[in-house]
Amino acid sequence: MTISLVELETIVREAGQIALAHFKDLKNTEIHKKNPRDFVTAADLAVEAYLQATLTKKYPRYGFWGEEGGQSADQSARWVVDPIDGTHSFSRGQYFWAISVALEIDGELMAGAVYAPALDDYYTAAKGRGAFKNGVAINVSDESGLADAMVATGFACLRSYLTDNNLERFGRIAQRTTGQRRFGSAAMDLCLVADGQVDAFWEQELNLYDVAAGALVVLEAGGTVTDFQGNPGVFPKQILATNGKVLAEILTLM
Ligand code: IPD
Ligand code: CA
Ligand code: CA
Repeated sequence: MTISLVELETIVREAGQIALAHFKDLKNTEIHKKNPRDFVTAADLAVEAYLQATLTKKYPRYGFWGEEGGQSADQSARWVVDPIDGTHSFSRGQYFWAISVALEIDGELMAGAVYAPALDDYYTAAKGRGAFKNGVAINVSDESGLADAMVATGFACLRSYLTDNNLERFGRIAQRTTGQRRFGSAAMDLCLVADGQVDAFWEQELNLYDVAAGALVVLEAGGTVTDFQGNPGVFPKQILATNGKVLAEILTLM
């Protein structure tokens, strides 16, 4: 991999400044619904436009896939970008939303950055080189029993059309865990697993741009990323990230 993580951080933090300018002036920021529970704001569009222009200029050999603008022609090596993950939280003035940028080459995640501008938390990872939060190495938690665990989940915006809408699974797991959270940004949820702030996170019906960067951060922090059956890999339609120690137990409840 020949990208510079320092350059990537500069670019992603700059994108964060664009988002923050809108966040601080929400009453003048346009907010639309793409679908009944799926939002897009002027900030999503501005951040994605900036990242696409900057990353493709700096790294012309990589294609680009952004949530709002779709895929460029060459996708074998590409940036996978969610300009704002957690748009609904953003649009309500809450703090848990993030810019998510991953570099994927031949189906392998090589680098990832998740930046939460309102918290000024920058998570990053590169394959085989560990995971970091604001420049400091991070690791998943040591919690080994689900009974004492803190878990997080999310509910897809499509949930009213799904037979499995996650509510029964959430109920089962909530009864067997000490803490449950719903932060509203899958990219952040994954980084919180990586940072040991929660012990497991699961969600279904996501897209690669929601989870690509965060999944690499979890793996590089020593965690697991699987589907709901425990098969290793990044499966956005069924993603389970854990600290490894609670994996076997939570799988029995998925
Ligand atoms: C959403 C967030 C949220 C998750 C939704 C996603 P968006 O992404 O990741 O946590 O529950 O399923 O769609 O729409 O804010 O980019
Ligand atoms: Ca998203
Ligand atoms: Ca988004």
